[in-house]
Amino acid sequence: MRAYVVRTGSGKWSASWEEYPEPACPRDGVVVEPRAAALAWSDVLQQEGGYVGAVPDPPFVSGHEFAGAIVEAGPDAGFAVGERVFGFLPRPAAFADRVAASSRFVRRIPDELTDIDAAAITTSFLTADVGLFTVGGLVPGQSVLVHAAAGGVGRSAIQLARASGIDTVVATAGSAARQAEAAALGATHVTGYEEFPELVREVTAGRGIDVALESVGGEVFDRTAEVMAPLGRLVTIGASSGTPPRRLKLPFLWQRSVTVGGLHVANLLAGSPDLLEDSWQRVRRLLVKGELDAGVGLVVDRDGIPSAAQALRGRTVSGRVVIDFSARDTRPLP
Ligand SMILES: NC(=O)c1ccc[n+]([C@@H]2O[C@H](COP(=O)([O-])OP(=O)(O)OC[C@H]3O[C@@H](n4cnc5c(N)ncnc54)[C@H](OP(=O)(O)O)[C@@H]3O)[C@@H](O)[C@H]2O)c1
Repeated sequence: MRAYVVRTGSGKWSASWEEYPEPACPRDGVVVEPRAAALAWSDVLQQEGGYVGAVPDPPFVSGHEFAGAIVEAGPDAGFAVGERVFGFLPRPAAFADRVAASSRFVRRIPDELTDIDAAAITTSFLTADVGLFTVGGLVPGQSVLVHAAAGGVGRSAIQLARASGIDTVVATAGSAARQAEAAALGATHVTGYEEFPELVREVTAGRGIDVALESVGGEVFDRTAEVMAPLGRLVTIGASSGTPPRRLKLPFLWQRSVTVGGLHVANLLAGSPDLLEDSWQRVRRLLVKGELDAGVGLVVDRDGIPSAAQALRGRTVSGRVVIDFSARDTRPLP
């Protein structure tokens, strides 16, 4: 089969399409022929050797999120050949002609969703939902601050907050155009990474924000901690700036009655998928009713992975990047 394989040589990491052994079908799982797969910034970092976190030793097949049709099912799979499914793999292997997955990591695609949309929803919506409601404890009547609102997780968070009756959604993004996109998705107040403390104080009459979903890190995290309301919950999910939060000291939390929480959706999916069930059900219900936009900002074909990675690097993509596998590639490999 063809697969987008990450290799190292002379200390350099690279990734390209090549012939690769087909995966075996697990007893408790399926083999899927992907029609679409999502390219996340973390996939790009894994392809380049810059990912902070666990990565398999190269060579390995890139990609975690996919959607497609089952071509083989194990005896204990609970799925049948031909069913449309989407999934998330804790260990990368999704950018390939065949993907093997335990049934724990696979779900049926509702008829209302396209394969392209289904490939894009798992990390964005689960991270946003678990972050806002399970870790953040957000309830109607409270206010929320969503950073990096034009990104995949940010877009999902704005929509989920509004769909659950949150009236004050403050959002940040890196340009006026991206702030306008956040407003179009339902953010009630939009601003930049420098200016948000002032806006939060203004819209909350000085009280501060109840829940913040923070993914930028560095100074943005520090400034966010300063604008939390009493008993506010600051949920840290990443550090897109490349600088993880470092300065916050624990006494700050008790002096200000603030809670800091975190989550790692891939680890939860791998180890405790039951804890995600409420979020899955909520997201599915809203998607099926057409109340959420899956947030696909760019669709490329198989050859478009490097240019899509470049677009993610340049922060020119709003929402998720999806690779459209629907046209089978029969050209000879180089
Ligand atoms: N903990 C978890 O389980 C989990 C799961 C998924 C994602 N994450 C993390 O959540 C964050 C968002 O993920 P995503 O999938 O939404 O990513 P994404 O679509 O690539 O969006 C990230 C956004 O961050 C903004 N950003 C702000 N400062 C940046 C900087 N210095 N460099 C690059 N981008 C910067 C950019 O928007 P502007 O240009 O508008 O600023 C960019 O669009 C990432 O840090 C990711 O690692 C965590």
